[in-house]
Amino acid sequence: MNARQSARRATRGRFHGGLSRQRLHAVLAAGCAAAFAAMLAGSAPLRAAEPAVPYVGATQGATDAALIARGAYLAKAADCAGCHTAAPAGGQPGKETQPAPFAGGLGMASPFGTIYSSNITPDPDNGIGRYTYGDFARALREGIAPGGKRLYPAMPFPSFAKINDDDMHALYAYFMHGVKPVAQPAPSTRLPFPFSQRWALLFWDWALVPRGQYVSQPGRDAQWNRGAYIVQSLGHCGACHTPRGPAYEERGYDGDAHLYLTGGTNDHWFAPNLTGDPGSGLGRVPAQDIAAFLRSGHGGGLVAFGSMVQVVEDSTQYLSDDDLAAVAAYLKSLPPREPAGLYDMRSRAAQQTMQALRTGDVERPGAGIFQSYCARCHQSDGLGVVQKYPRLAGNPAVLAPQTTSLVRLLVEGGASPHTESGPPSRKMPSFADKLTSEEMAQVLTFIRNTWGNAAPPVSTRDVTSARSAIHK
Ligand code: HEC
Ligand code: HEC
Ligand code: HEC
Repeated sequence: MNARQSARRATRGRFHGGLSRQRLHAVLAAGCAAAFAAMLAGSAPLRAAEPAVPYVGATQGATDAALIARGAYLAKAADCAGCHTAAPAGGQPGKETQPAPFAGGLGMASPFGTIYSSNITPDPDNGIGRYTYGDFARALREGIAPGGKRLYPAMPFPSFAKINDDDMHALYAYFMHGVKPVAQPAPSTRLPFPFSQRWALLFWDWALVPRGQYVSQPGRDAQWNRGAYIVQSLGHCGACHTPRGPAYEERGYDGDAHLYLTGGTNDHWFAPNLTGDPGSGLGRVPAQDIAAFLRSGHGGGLVAFGSMVQVVEDSTQYLSDDDLAAVAAYLKSLPPREPAGLYDMRSRAAQQTMQALRTGDVERPGAGIFQSYCARCHQSDGLGVVQKYPRLAGNPAVLAPQTTSLVRLLVEGGASPHTESGPPSRKMPSFADKLTSEEMAQVLTFIRNTWGNAAPPVSTRDVTSARSAIHK
């Protein structure tokens, strides 16, 4: 991770799910009720500690180096560093002290307090140096740290449950032997009562967390299975792209669930539908453009923004060509679900607006704002500039049913991902000082209904409520 990337991190909350107070109350209330019932029934819900399985994989020699290297790759695929590395502290932008990788302490904002990620370097006192392989696998798959400490689901263990044994061994070898120990405690998470009651998460885990490793689907080829495995386990794509239920659980962890990967809002960013919906999903995006998008943040005229920028920078840009092709092939196999928005570049309306924009003769509200403030980068024809500025015509994120991301991007501005193989990062300016909320609503309504795009209008109220949620 470079300085620029980690500077960006400082400004971004990373709590998956925007877990609301109300929702966590529901989680804990359900947990307390179940605990009480269990006590009455005289059963002991806590599992007895499993005997620790001694780790025998990593001793010496060439196989070790290979195993550790594979673990390092898998840690990228799972973005462990993205959550387990603190934000840079002090100094001017670009001159901050760089925090040690994996030493934890990244604060994830939640409405009831900040959850800090743990130090997962092999330091025996402050990190996970004393973990056996069994401890490690259990923390990742079940969200239970040694001593029975239940982890908050800000750690995506419901997805990591599917990681297979070979990969778990490689990850363990990497964390024990490939990561530098850092003797520095991560700040401890102190949430107010009742959120401090970690034990109550037991019932959440028991009721809502899938069990069992990924099982290959016999009717599918090896590439499909590889893609499904990465998306569902290590990549934890559903943590953002699947909507959440009333107890903050993801509404499904694989394609058998209707709502799996149909879009979710986390930290006020809407992660769009990744199924084959031709409007706001990936239906019109060819597999090779999806792979390019994950490699470089640019593909088929789309540019990663919001919380996807960090995913590309920290994680997907490092995946092998084969793995990216597998991920894309798997996503392309998902049938269209929860369709929203339409795009028809040949529609009469599309032709008319094209013509009107060309002659400057547009009277719709928002058109003038677009021409003055946006067209210089996104172009009058809405097609953007390849490898620089995204197209807005037919862009699934523009057609999405949830417009929080669009509002947030206009208010805060953004910068495209900075990757090893992609074009240089470009900025989208903030319009907080230039446009009123009403004007933002107008220009967003305009881009959602021009060039053949068709999606519900954005109201001034939509803009003001999104702005008050992000306090901007
Ligand atoms: C989306 C953010 C996120 C990602 C990705 C993530 N973690 Fe975590 N992890 C957390 C948070 C937050 C905690 C602390 C949870 C708590 O305090 O309940 C945590 C806790 C842990 C713990 C428990 C440590 C302890 O004893 O307290 C381990 C081990 C761990 N993570 C390992 C990993 C590994 C290995 C990866 C990559 C395969 C990973 N994590 C990826 C957020 C994340
Ligand atoms: C931290 C949350 C988060 C995670 C984890 C995440 N995404 Fe995203 N993703 C987003 C957001 C927000 C967007 C919308 C912004 C954009 O289009 O770049 C997005 C956009 C995308 C897009 C472009 C969709 C479009 O219609 O424009 C693709 C493809 C994608 N993500 C794939 C993935 C895959 C594959 C994974 C898992 C390896 C993943 N994402 C994990 C938040 C996330
Ligand atoms: C100086 C060039 C520039 C201007 C002016 C500009 N944008 Fe952008 N826009 C960008 C860049 C660069 C991105 C990618 C941002 C990112 O990755 O965070 C972007 C992204 C977007 C996206 C998300 C689409 C995607 O696939 O990434 C939308 C929607 C958008 N801009 C709308 C607008 C609107 C509306 C205006 C005018 C009010 C505007 N932009 C003005 C450069 C610009």
